[in-house]
Amino acid sequence: MSNYHIKNLEEYWQVYRKSIQNPEQFWEEIAEEHFLWRKKWDSVLEWDFSKPEVSWFKGAKLNITENCIDRHLATRGDKTAILFEPNNPKEEAQHITYKQLHARVCQFANVLKAQGVTKGDRVCLYLPMIPELAIAVLACARIGAVHSVVFAGFSASALATRINDCDCKLIICSDGSYRGAKTIDLKSIVDEALEDCQSVSKSLVIKRTNGNVTMKEGRDIWLQPLLDVADTSCPATIMDAEDPLFVLYTSGSTGKPKGMVHTTGGYMVYAAYSFKNVFQYTEQDIYWCTADIGWITGHSYIVYGPLVNGATTVMFEGVPSYPDFGRFWEIVEKHKVNQFYTAPTAIRALAKENLSFVEKYDLSSLKVLGTVGEPINEEAWHWYNDNIGKKNSPIVDTWWQTETGGIMISPIPYTTPTIPTFATFPLPGIQPALLNENGEELKGNQVEGKLAIKFPWPSMARTIYGNHQRYKETYFSAFKNMYFTGDGARRDAVGYYRITGRVDDVIIVSGHNLGTAPIEDAINEHPAVAESAIVGFPHDIKGNALYGYITLKETGESRNHDNLRKEINQLITERIGPIAKLEKIQFTLGLPKTRSGKIMRRILRKIAEKDTNNLGDTSTLLNPEVVQNIIDNALV
Ligand code: WTA
Repeated sequence: MSNYHIKNLEEYWQVYRKSIQNPEQFWEEIAEEHFLWRKKWDSVLEWDFSKPEVSWFKGAKLNITENCIDRHLATRGDKTAILFEPNNPKEEAQHITYKQLHARVCQFANVLKAQGVTKGDRVCLYLPMIPELAIAVLACARIGAVHSVVFAGFSASALATRINDCDCKLIICSDGSYRGAKTIDLKSIVDEALEDCQSVSKSLVIKRTNGNVTMKEGRDIWLQPLLDVADTSCPATIMDAEDPLFVLYTSGSTGKPKGMVHTTGGYMVYAAYSFKNVFQYTEQDIYWCTADIGWITGHSYIVYGPLVNGATTVMFEGVPSYPDFGRFWEIVEKHKVNQFYTAPTAIRALAKENLSFVEKYDLSSLKVLGTVGEPINEEAWHWYNDNIGKKNSPIVDTWWQTETGGIMISPIPYTTPTIPTFATFPLPGIQPALLNENGEELKGNQVEGKLAIKFPWPSMARTIYGNHQRYKETYFSAFKNMYFTGDGARRDAVGYYRITGRVDDVIIVSGHNLGTAPIEDAINEHPAVAESAIVGFPHDIKGNALYGYITLKETGESRNHDNLRKEINQLITERIGPIAKLEKIQFTLGLPKTRSGKIMRRILRKIAEKDTNNLGDTSTLLNPEVVQNIIDNALV
């Protein structure tokens, strides 16, 4: 028996050691016992990071949707696969069983086939968080088409860039989307994008908001009538383990977005294995990840990881603030959610609000809480732990990336003791390394450096679509024979990892390396502070000095700002030392964020450097309006 499901710390160490000593045997056992293959592999792993080339389960044949759906039909046919919670709480939730999912995916796949989509074609999905999005993802995978999901908050030009980069043949979109009280006209964004996209010949349109749309003749087709007459069975196209499953774009520090290519077999094995362990999923559980399927978190931990394990996965269409700030907790109570996975930015936003929004609801079903996407600050961690988990649900601070395909470093709940802001131990099969500026690996504990991964894992991205050279330069050139993550990390006395943030955010002040995250943690401890971001700016004597952008809670706004500045610097001095004190503190109405909630430090850095003519494209931000306000009030 392979150790597919780890249940205590001793077992973790046993499994971890085995996964390092004999990775191929380790993954082979897991792959053999828990998945459906049409043909077994010829070799488990072939790799060469100098090229770089990696293949897992080479020669194996499978279809991931048979693993996500078909093989559950006999034992879980009537179990809910997807539990859809609409934006409007008055609209009824939908329970889509595995049987129904099978029929709907097959129908959708048959429609795609009838539109001329074949194995290997790229299909763009630009949809709100409605069941059809997950179904479309699976329908593509059913017939071997490569899905490229673009988050439906991106602008027309961002959408066009992504469509053109991978030459999508067809796009699946909707008339509109609901986000809280707003209705967004998605179809017109698609229309605008498609003016610049020669490769797209068809657009399948799903009705969601019943808005007025213009249907371009010969190109735009309403989906529902086609689905209504489509056959409910569709044979799965048999894929090679290394055939691409999807492309997903992630922003680089420079240049156009990178289309990360994930392949079929290894991705499936790792998404499923990590899901099972990090969320300790058991058969009756209701699991909810609040991410959007437009991000990797949604791909791996709303769709593939849960479904391969036969789980019930919640899909939420709306936002945490609608109709009020209690919405997440209302849903947890309503569906008796057992595992809840969200982002620190959401936690911070909700923690700003009155606790009565939480206290109204029964959250006793919760067993595991998760976070992902950025370092979680201590204050947010404690708020989450105290008020949502009632100190009873372990928090899994999961570190990973679009490129890694699955969670890499994370506690295993009820197994790894958690500490705020620590992602703790690598999952089995993951071999992290910390390196210094000279590229030397730092052995032992109590070290801090750049985070790299020394050995392949099954779900790593294999290339950047159409640009293998960029893949090599970005990830495999910093350190010889290692994958470089772009993040920094510290390994503490017991070997726990703490992610310190992107290494490009490390600021050297008077020769001292300062990570932004610990300073921000210190600032955020101040009761008047809602959120903060630190950047460096050039300083005559120190080389760099620190500029802090800080958003205040209402209680802070009414206070004397100079006193607040002193108190904040006092806190930093206490937590980190006088070296980390902020040279400049600007109180802002908000911080510029990406649609996935990451603070855009690049913009803040430029403002601090007085380089505001060169801010780059700010139109894809969640809140572009705050940028001008910050510029107008900058302390430069
Ligand atoms: C950051 C999201 C600290 C990190 C799955 C990484 C984190 C980038 C954590 C990838 C975490 C993600 N703690 N930082 N738990 N999780 N990050 O591609 O900088 O959207 O490199 O993937 O987010 O972001 P991406």
